[in-house]
Amino acid sequence: ARRPTSIITKDPADLRFQVKMYLTELLEQLFRANGLISIGVSGGSMPHILCDVFKTMENVKWKRVKIFMVDERYVESSDPQSNYGQYLALLPPPIQESLVHVPILETVQKSAQQYELVLKQTCQPECIGNKMPRFDIVFLGVGPDGHTASIFPGDKLTKYDPQIVGHLGSSWVYPVLDSPKLPPKRITLGLNALRVAKNTAFIITGEEKANVVKGILSGDTQYPAAQVRPMNHRLTFFFDQGAASKLTPE
Ligand code: 6PG
Repeated sequence: ARRPTSIITKDPADLRFQVKMYLTELLEQLFRANGLISIGVSGGSMPHILCDVFKTMENVKWKRVKIFMVDERYVESSDPQSNYGQYLALLPPPIQESLVHVPILETVQKSAQQYELVLKQTCQPECIGNKMPRFDIVFLGVGPDGHTASIFPGDKLTKYDPQIVGHLGSSWVYPVLDSPKLPPKRITLGLNALRVAKNTAFIITGEEKANVVKGILSGDTQYPAAQVRPMNHRLTFFFDQGAASKLTPE
């Protein structure tokens, strides 16, 4: 596996600047190929950071970009807890059209199944069929308790099995019924799907996450983020000063 890149940013403006540089470079490469570009995005504090960045990228051909939720709370999009709803509220209309929402159906299980179908239909041809959706770029966060997407340490979804990647029977999207972080019902991509993204960026801010960050970078696999170790693609960590405060310089 390639070594991850860690970028420790000075302040919120620098964080946004660095994420923009990263995204601009990747999009330039990706736009040279044909077809749609898929970006997976997380919730929590991330919509604010990413939307600040997206909004300044007027030259991007957003019509060719699809923005998927990596995880979603099982609430209507009008609910302030909805990740999709947050992105919708923060983005200008031309970029809003790129957002793909997680269908909220009568049960969380049905919502997960339906979202998997949406992903299959919208992803690039290489992802269609029984293969995983390969996001071009995925932005992940980490909570103070070590969760990533809606995958919590110790959860059965962390029991990653390298043998089942891309095989029939492995789901991409899972219902969560008892999330320790509210709301309890959620829909999340699984680790298998997250691992096959072509470019993965973690954005982690806050001093309360410093110990978790140290654990993730030292490869402590109790943290789902430590299991997102892509074999043949790019892994980048963006930190603020607080989140990076327990890292020892190399
Ligand atoms: C969610 C998010 C989640 C988020 C982490 C980090 O819906 O809860 O998608 O996966 O990325 O909780 O959140 P913060 O950045 O707010 O700590």
